[in-house]
Amino acid sequence: MVREWDPRTASSAEMASLLATLNAVLATDLPDDPPWRETALREYLSEVMPGERRISWVAQTEPAADGTPGAIVGHVHVLLLGDIGVLEVLVHPSVRRTGLGRDLVRLAARRAYQEGFRSVGVEVVGGTPAMAFFEALGFGRDYVETRSVLRLGTVDWAALDAMATGIGTGYRIEFCPGGPPDELIEPYARAKAELRDVEDGDLRPSSYDPQRLRDSLDCLHRRGMKPYVVFAIHERTGEVAGLTEVVVPAQHPTRADQYDTIVVPDHRGYGIDRAIKARMLLDLRAAEPELTEVQTWNAQANEAMLAVNAELGYRPDRQWCEYGADVAELVHRLDALTR
Ligand SMILES: CC(C)(COP(=O)(O)OP(=O)(O)OC[C@H]1O[C@@H](n2cnc3c(N)ncnc32)[C@H](O)[C@@H]1OP(=O)(O)O)[C@@H](O)C(=O)NCCC(=O)NCCS
Repeated sequence: MVREWDPRTASSAEMASLLATLNAVLATDLPDDPPWRETALREYLSEVMPGERRISWVAQTEPAADGTPGAIVGHVHVLLLGDIGVLEVLVHPSVRRTGLGRDLVRLAARRAYQEGFRSVGVEVVGGTPAMAFFEALGFGRDYVETRSVLRLGTVDWAALDAMATGIGTGYRIEFCPGGPPDELIEPYARAKAELRDVEDGDLRPSSYDPQRLRDSLDCLHRRGMKPYVVFAIHERTGEVAGLTEVVVPAQHPTRADQYDTIVVPDHRGYGIDRAIKARMLLDLRAAEPELTEVQTWNAQANEAMLAVNAELGYRPDRQWCEYGADVAELVHRLDALTR
């Protein structure tokens, strides 16, 4: 049975069942990724930025003879943001290739269509069945990034210490657990507006103005994801010359996510990118004792950032692709397939 589902009101048995399916999917498709925990999973699935909506469905097996509810074996949600619907779908490995994934995507695509959205996008991990699945559904590949993983156990901490201090004079570095202090929000937003090291086409939206940045930090906290920011401050002007962001999710606190790293053009060539990323790792290790890995995503053309990451010890792991489809065409195609 497939039905619309609201994580805010779902029973704890449903949350546990969905988590079991998510972890079965990870063990099958991404066996080196850490399993997720239930901590803040409900908030992760329900909290959104102002103006955004996430609509979810689950596929559940029949109840047992004694009335015990069935297991959640499939899940899809569409996040409606701006002019695009971003999909996420998963199907338990034991019930794949039965058409369930296609049925779930059809529901989400139909809703996006009814809500007036023109396109849908999805992040697809290279080397998993999702690539053939979305290609079979007629999605096109828009963009490819490389995910790299740094295992903290392999880091040369003395070398990292040297990198963290190897910055030009006139700059100071600040580590801000939980996000920036209020007086840094405006220069933070300006630096992000000026340049991002992720390229156009990224489905992870970035924040440019102070209010949106505050909303975005607030949303991260509500979803159980703790942000850390390291700033390089140009001492003479007080401007943010560079910044790097890492998030430690309560759902998998052993593996953190590296978000944007930005060096404002006027401040390039002073070793800021290397120093702020090294400083982040040094301070994170102390602040998050459970942490064992950090993952990051980079455009393949971003050779400068890839070189810094390699120096820090990141190793390329997987391709991370964005696929997209025109909603009307997708709905039409999926409806035709079931006739
Ligand atoms: C991708 C996923 C949702 C597919 O679910 P599914 O229920 O097995 O998919 P369906 O049975 O509806 O498959 C529809 C079509 O996709 C294609 N397809 C699906 N899996 C495939 C595979 N492993 N190899 C080749 N083609 C595949 C086929 O054309 C299939 O039609 P067919 O079985 O009639 O040949 C599932 O593998 C999954 O949960 N993957 C992990 C989560 C994930 O990566 N999600 C995507 C990002 S959010």
